[in-house]
Amino acid sequence: MKPVKVGLFGLGTVGTGVVRIVEGHQEDLQSQVGSPISIAKILVKDRAKARSISIDPAKLTEDPWEIVRDPEIDVIVEVMGGIAETKEYILEALDRGKHVVTANKDLMALHGQEILAKASEKGCDVLYEASVAGGIPIIRTLIEGFSSDRITKIMGIVNGTTNYILTKMSQEGAAYADVLKEAQALGYAEADPTSDVEGLDAARKMTILATLGFRSNVALEDVDVKGISAVTQEDIRYAQSLGYEVKLLGIAERQDDYISVSVQPTMVKKSHPLASVGGVFNAVYVYGEAVGETMFYGPGAGAMPTATSVVADLVAVVKNMKLGVNGRQAALAYKEKKLKTDEQIASKYFLLLHVEDRAGVLAQIAQVFSRHELSIESVMQPAAPDQHGAELIITTHSASKASLANVLAEFGELAAIRTIKSVYRLEG
Ligand code: NAP
Ligand code: HSE
Repeated sequence: MKPVKVGLFGLGTVGTGVVRIVEGHQEDLQSQVGSPISIAKILVKDRAKARSISIDPAKLTEDPWEIVRDPEIDVIVEVMGGIAETKEYILEALDRGKHVVTANKDLMALHGQEILAKASEKGCDVLYEASVAGGIPIIRTLIEGFSSDRITKIMGIVNGTTNYILTKMSQEGAAYADVLKEAQALGYAEADPTSDVEGLDAARKMTILATLGFRSNVALEDVDVKGISAVTQEDIRYAQSLGYEVKLLGIAERQDDYISVSVQPTMVKKSHPLASVGGVFNAVYVYGEAVGETMFYGPGAGAMPTATSVVADLVAVVKNMKLGVNGRQAALAYKEKKLKTDEQIASKYFLLLHVEDRAGVLAQIAQVFSRHELSIESVMQPAAPDQHGAELIITTHSASKASLANVLAEFGELAAIRTIKSVYRLEG
């Protein structure tokens, strides 16, 4: 039986997992697709590098074109990362009729629609399940499982590294920098972990999820992004005392066809299922008008979970090859994109302020809230930060992002407020 030949781009954390699964599960895979799957060539940066698995050195190449131009290769599995050059290889491979499986959220968030359009034109598959939430089959779920519904909200813990860091800070009081090093050593973090901790990795994943969920072409620039580098132990302790956990949440919402997408550290009520998602685990909560609440949970990063999704896509491609239906499933955005204004984006908020401890300060603060129609839910003054100051913790009822911005701008001018220590969105 003629094997399906795969060109693997990358033999790092994920690539090694892909080889392990394709070789280790060969019999099962063959039973499902009807022919052997063979990893024929592997692109690496450095052929001489020591590998954690045994690989025939003749399969390794440092020349991407050797794989892209090889007429024997049927499918490219891209798990090396990168954007501009990687896009060039993928477009050329599609031009040559090769199917593509990728785990590359950076590429799919920025150029997904162009790549999918090319795939459709050439009758090829481009599948990218592993690009969001590692081992959770959320992309197939949004494309197929929710094709009958209208999704109004997607909330996700979609970055394993930051969830690992926040969980360790919250449960063990660990220091941010130490836990980041651990996440890097475990293979969760990106080559440059700034994109994890500053929220860009999550923003890219939310761009992909929002595009699929709302069937509109959401761009990375449409996502309002804030990472976790400013989250303190103090914030986490106050959140816990109010019954919340701090999580880096991606939130995509749609109301009357207007959408908003953001990534930000959020205080999530402990009773909400997202609050108990710990460590490197990811979860995506999806609300559909017809189905109501659903949640998908699993490992969001790491070699074997991510490779599970990659190889599942490979199986889907090979099944499509057998049926002769490649290129028929591209999830192209077909709805006009309408973005919410800051007046339309509503949420509850938590504010931690350091203020002067004297008569009339609370009244001044209350007046600012009142002027901008931001209704206060609760106020607490737990402890004095120094002999002349006080800490104020304020939670609000739901208000627009524009109202919050106006309040914060006025606070900046108010002499009685020494520092706006933290502001968080509240969910749940
Ligand atoms: P990695 O461990 O850094 O491995 C990258 C691999 O690609 C290495 O084998 C490297 O070669 C090769 N490579 C990189 N640039 C190359 C170039 N210009 N030319 C030739 N080979 C090149 O990365 P990873 O963690 O496996 O991630 C791979 C992709 O999967 C990324 O897009 C990432 O965002 C995505 N992803 C990762 C995870 C995860 O948990 N790690 C989860 C989901 C998605 P050498 O081995 O010779 O250096
Ligand atoms: N760095 C990413 C994370 C890898 O931590 O979630 C998975 O995409």
